[in-house]
Amino acid sequence: MIERSLVLLKPDAVQRGFMGEIIMRFERAGLKIVGTKMVWVDKDFAKKHYAEHVEKAFYKGLEKVITHGPVLALAIEGVEAIATVRKMVGGTEPKSAAPGTIRGDYAHVSYGYADKQGIGIKNLIHASANTEDAKKEISLWFKAEEMHSYKTVHDIHILE
Ligand code: CDP
Ligand code: MG
Repeated sequence: MIERSLVLLKPDAVQRGFMGEIIMRFERAGLKIVGTKMVWVDKDFAKKHYAEHVEKAFYKGLEKVITHGPVLALAIEGVEAIATVRKMVGGTEPKSAAPGTIRGDYAHVSYGYADKQGIGIKNLIHASANTEDAKKEISLWFKAEEMHSYKTVHDIHILE
């Protein structure tokens, strides 16, 4: 039940100086950062990561958002980490994302506004949706030797 999830702090999070605050939330929850790197994604790589969305109307805006600057990629490990991380990230649309979630606390824009402007939603963060996606995404973003296994104090609380 120990899982790994792929998280991206998107260019808007990096540019707004929220990397530390967001990482702090995951660390506080006892989740473990087991891989990290900064990457400036190009259009080809964006299409690989967002393959399921390439044909959708919002893809042009999404591509612009995700290639606008470097992203910080994180591999995050913990007990049922995929669902826990998604819970902490919140809903896709900042307007309706619950307070207390990363998207709900640090952004506010609506689908209605973004669509009217013809722009992508800047919602700070990506997190793997399920086990299958997490596996695919972690191998897309990280080589095996870039992932690390180590102990934290939280392991004591998980094991006993
Ligand atoms: O990121 P999440 O899994 O919550 O949402 P998604 O439906 O998989 O969409 C991926 C990303 O596309 C979102 O996080 C948004 O950045 C973007 N998007 C958008 O710009 N406009 C939409 N109408 C829907 C999604
Ligand atoms: Mg998704």
